[in-house]
Amino acid sequence: MPVEIRSDGPTTTEAVGAALADILAPGDVVVLRGDLGAGKTTLVRAAARALGVSGPVTSPTFAIANSYEGRVPVAHLDAWRLGDPDDEEMGLALEAVGPEAVAFVEWPDSVLHGLPAPRVTVDIAHRGGDVRLVRLLGVDSATDALLGALRDDLRARYRDA
Ligand SMILES: Nc1ncnc2c1ncn2[C@@H]1O[C@H](COP(=O)(O)OP(=O)(O)OP(=O)(O)O)[C@@H](O)[C@H]1O
Ligand SMILES: [Mg+2]
Repeated sequence: MPVEIRSDGPTTTEAVGAALADILAPGDVVVLRGDLGAGKTTLVRAAARALGVSGPVTSPTFAIANSYEGRVPVAHLDAWRLGDPDDEEMGLALEAVGPEAVAFVEWPDSVLHGLPAPRVTVDIAHRGGDVRLVRLLGVDSATDALLGALRDDLRARYRDA
């Protein structure tokens, strides 16, 4: 069962991203699904900040993959425009993902077979206005336990989460 967090604005989604960063380690892949404007990049930006990335973190829709130097290397992929990627596009996109980096992948489905198994799967759904339902699912029960603790901590800080 995924951990569910209600977000009533970008600030809460950013808090989820920052908290998620705390449990990630080099080599981890996080995939993010959700409609346009759901808040995937908003969450990734906050996670990257928490991982020590200081410059602007913008959607890599056209670059396919952005790489940042934080306390660890951070990769941000957005495969939205890839559709059915050819080998070269796929290679470029996946170059940034590796054992040293923490990788975030928006619109992951077309590149999923080239990625290591995601440690965390994020799903963000619109719930009207600025409200979003953020679901976090871990690859194993140890990760799910960390995600549950993360939700409890956020609930204590944001009463409505
Ligand atoms: N609760 C919320 N969480 C996140 N973003 C929100 C929320 N409420 C409003 N927003 C706004 O929605 C937009 C989310 O944009 P963002 O680029 O993060 O979405 P995305 O899921 O990455 O979209 P895309 O599929 O185009 O990459 C931002 O303008 C943000 O300010
Ligand atoms: Mg995005």
